[in-house]
Amino acid sequence: MAYDVSVIGCGRVGLPLALSFADRGLRVLGVDKSPEILGAVRAGRMPFDEPGAPGVLARTQVDWTDRVADAALADHIVITLGTPTFSHIEIDLSDIRTVLDDLLPHLRAGQSLTLRSTIAPRTTEFVAGYVAKHRGFDIGTELFVAHCPERIAAGCFFEEIVSLPCIVGGVGERSGAVVGALFEVFGAPIVQTTPVQAELAKIWTNILRYATFALPNLLMMDCEQYGANVFDVIELINHDYPRGGMAQPGFTAGTCLRKDFAFSEERSHAPGMLLAVSRVNESVPLFLVEGLTRRLGSLSGRKVAVLGLAFKSGTDDERDSLAHKLVRLLERELADVAIHDPHVPTPTLELDEAVAGADAVVVATNHPGFRTHATLQAITDGAAVDALVVDPWNCWGAGQVFAYARELAAMAPAGLSDAPLS
Ligand SMILES: NC(=O)c1ccc[n+]([C@@H]2O[C@H](COP(=O)([O-])OP(=O)(O)OC[C@H]3O[C@@H](n4cnc5c(N)ncnc54)[C@H](O)[C@@H]3O)[C@@H](O)[C@H]2O)c1
Repeated sequence: MAYDVSVIGCGRVGLPLALSFADRGLRVLGVDKSPEILGAVRAGRMPFDEPGAPGVLARTQVDWTDRVADAALADHIVITLGTPTFSHIEIDLSDIRTVLDDLLPHLRAGQSLTLRSTIAPRTTEFVAGYVAKHRGFDIGTELFVAHCPERIAAGCFFEEIVSLPCIVGGVGERSGAVVGALFEVFGAPIVQTTPVQAELAKIWTNILRYATFALPNLLMMDCEQYGANVFDVIELINHDYPRGGMAQPGFTAGTCLRKDFAFSEERSHAPGMLLAVSRVNESVPLFLVEGLTRRLGSLSGRKVAVLGLAFKSGTDDERDSLAHKLVRLLERELADVAIHDPHVPTPTLELDEAVAGADAVVVATNHPGFRTHATLQAITDGAAVDALVVDPWNCWGAGQVFAYARELAAMAPAGLSDAPLS
């Protein structure tokens, strides 16, 4: 069987991409080693939430396999494997290396190999060099290698694949043109550049966000030290000021933001700057636990309800979520932790059960459903009368990171309804 395109790694990025190619009429092979993923898609089920995906899965034809070598049956091979970091401040390319070794004997002239995963600078050149070294192809005329970074936000795939400029960094003479022509099927503008510029553009897109959120997080910690209110200070910075723009505090992590800065730190000329950004964001859960113990005393045997496990509002994705770190830290204080998250696959309690009699409630994820009058009411009705509510997201507009439940209802804006606050 011949295919137009194969997608290797059908996770959160690869699966919607494979479906999108198929939806444009391309013959697609999806490759993944996970029996759970293959079992789900073969049964016509999405293995994770992605709005719009179930409909596309139902109406498209994709062949699925766990044999990486079969990917070489396609004219275009797109790699969407995970690229974690080692704790050595270095990209972990082991999945990409394994797959390349499986593909090498089967590659043929005229094929393209696209790296869609997020990668450290110079990884595309490495992959092109690796293929040239072992197979002798001239990259750019005989075989085409490019980096075409995924910049779509989880939950917005089908909206953004047709609109976000698609960056293509091709190696040699014609790789950019060949891979650009493949991604043109989605109709978004194709922006040609060099491989290293494509790599830098992607990781610095994430670094920008990671650093942007570290500033209000650090400010939140400073405000606690000075007895100031972070939401008031942010309002003073931003209000009617043309050069404002301070973001809001919160848990800043997830599989991309938490790791991608390390790809830059691999060879940084200002080593440590982005590590400091990371340390600020990573210390927010500890800051909240310390804030709790300062106000409540020992947490040993006290019930703490945690609302949210996902790393991001409205998603079921728990990977690298700081909510899990918060739970671990609370457990190390011997607190009795009760968790509620209606989105994630991890089993959790119902809201009423989680907050019942709680000495403290911490909002770890700003899910839309939490930012409602009903959730606030459930807390004030169910938690202990003197319960402390910790809300770095300002879910209810009360403008307090730490507030007692009884005060919170009075401080929330009068218009708070059951529609989530925007
Ligand atoms: N998730 C996002 O929102 C997002 C956004 C932009 C970029 N990215 C980047 O895209 C890449 C993929 O991310 P993801 O979230 O889709 O990861 P993921 O872990 O969800 O998907 C990777 C898939 O590859 C499969 N796999 C691993 N080794 C394999 C092998 N040898 N053979 C076949 N399959 C194999 C895994 O089973 C998994 O399903 C990463 O580089 C990530 O940084 C992710």
